[in-house]
Amino acid sequence: MKRAIYDEVQRPQIHYTPKKNWMNDPNGCIHVNGIYHLYYQYHPFSSQWGPMHWGHAVSTDLISWEELQIALYPDDRCGMAFSGSAVLDGENTSGLFDTEGGIAVLYTGHTSTHGTQRQQQCLAVSHDDGKTLVPYEHNPVIPSMGRSDFRDPKVFRHDESSSWVMVISAGKHLELYRSTDLKQWELASSCVLEGTGEHHLYECPDLLLVPSEDSTGTARWMMCVSLLKDDVSTAGGNAYAFGAFDGYVFTQSERLKTFDHGYDFYAMQSWANMDDGRAVIIGWINHWGYAHVTPTAPWRGGMSIPRELTAKKDADGTWHLVQQPVAELQAYHLSPWQLGLDDYNRPLPLDGGRAHEIRMEGMAADTDLLEICLSNPCDQQVTVRISTRDLLLSVDRQHTCCDQFDQEFASVIEAAIPTTAATLDVTILVDRSVLEVFAAGGMLVLTNLFFTSQELDHITVTGDGKRIDRITITPIRSIWETT
Ligand code: FRU
Repeated sequence: MKRAIYDEVQRPQIHYTPKKNWMNDPNGCIHVNGIYHLYYQYHPFSSQWGPMHWGHAVSTDLISWEELQIALYPDDRCGMAFSGSAVLDGENTSGLFDTEGGIAVLYTGHTSTHGTQRQQQCLAVSHDDGKTLVPYEHNPVIPSMGRSDFRDPKVFRHDESSSWVMVISAGKHLELYRSTDLKQWELASSCVLEGTGEHHLYECPDLLLVPSEDSTGTARWMMCVSLLKDDVSTAGGNAYAFGAFDGYVFTQSERLKTFDHGYDFYAMQSWANMDDGRAVIIGWINHWGYAHVTPTAPWRGGMSIPRELTAKKDADGTWHLVQQPVAELQAYHLSPWQLGLDDYNRPLPLDGGRAHEIRMEGMAADTDLLEICLSNPCDQQVTVRISTRDLLLSVDRQHTCCDQFDQEFASVIEAAIPTTAATLDVTILVDRSVLEVFAAGGMLVLTNLFFTSQELDHITVTGDGKRIDRITITPIRSIWETT
């Protein structure tokens, strides 16, 4: 049984979306007492961006979410509640809890008076397990000092130096602050990531430890940023770099690379307080170039599938990021089926209302083209093309229905398959209006939206079935289905 409200044609079935109205960045991602909290930028009165509140959803498995009441409101002292992050102040270092400690969040207070924008950093704490966040009475904890682009604090515990550390965007550079009580903060360092390019404004930075896949298992520090470009009509507005971090300074050691090569992945944030050592992130699946006009109702904006990150070293010693959907998604898999040799080059029916995983394993190198086309009877389609000869992968969303809402939207998004990839395996997650591709074993990821007027209920795989070991198609149970 499905709840009607989550069954609109465009409504993702395994990706989180709010019941109604506008959503952007994930905020305050934290895992406490077995509950994953996902707060997010939310406008409760409209499906357009507006006075930002923090919406709130909770999950026990990172896949099914329950939407709760709004957790944080704009107020007179701080203004709108822009993006930020959460920590567990378990030892009550802030002195703002009674005995036990609890969830504390740092976020940007945003005001705009007569066209002048000011941003300052504010603290709020929860006395009810995260349901409501109460702003600190002496906010801000870091004043604006006249800055108009000073936002999106990501705070984490650095045990080695017994301190809280904040990484924050200050426009075209990042700043690192330190604190022992979450209330008084001192600037520790500033940095610009080499390779960012001209005119990029940083947003939503994150500095996290990523477990490595090498034999030592040593975790690597990674800085991630979203890049607000002057020209927002391009893909890949996000980047990461590995490096070293001593509690004060981040020293970039590797080239800056694109985190997700699609158009629709932004403002990623990692979960705090994971007790199993995993690095898990989530991103907003949209693009500032057209986020305000995407044809969905009564909601606008959604989240990616949470992804587990690992770091992998190639033969010449360079570190790469590997991303995979969190393993918890597998519990939602329904009965899989595999393509036989005579299933190639002809349309096969799919249960169009469901999300699907399409997994391609053992693709021969030097193959001209494998094409996976998902279509409906109205000739609307979205197509993934893979050439292991040219090492190119593309997502074609030119032939969807509602592409008139934005000039740039109907496009082919192309990315190079890394030459260092140990495997050419590709996993596609397709979910009504969202398509995430994890190629080269997770070294190349692309997230793109597409919009059709009817569900995609056929799949055609074009290519030589003898040049691939296996294609497995797995329908996935909807997170909105009640069992
Ligand atoms: C990123 C962003 C943040 C800001 C928030 C406002 O998408 O622009 O920098 O805090 O959205 O909603």
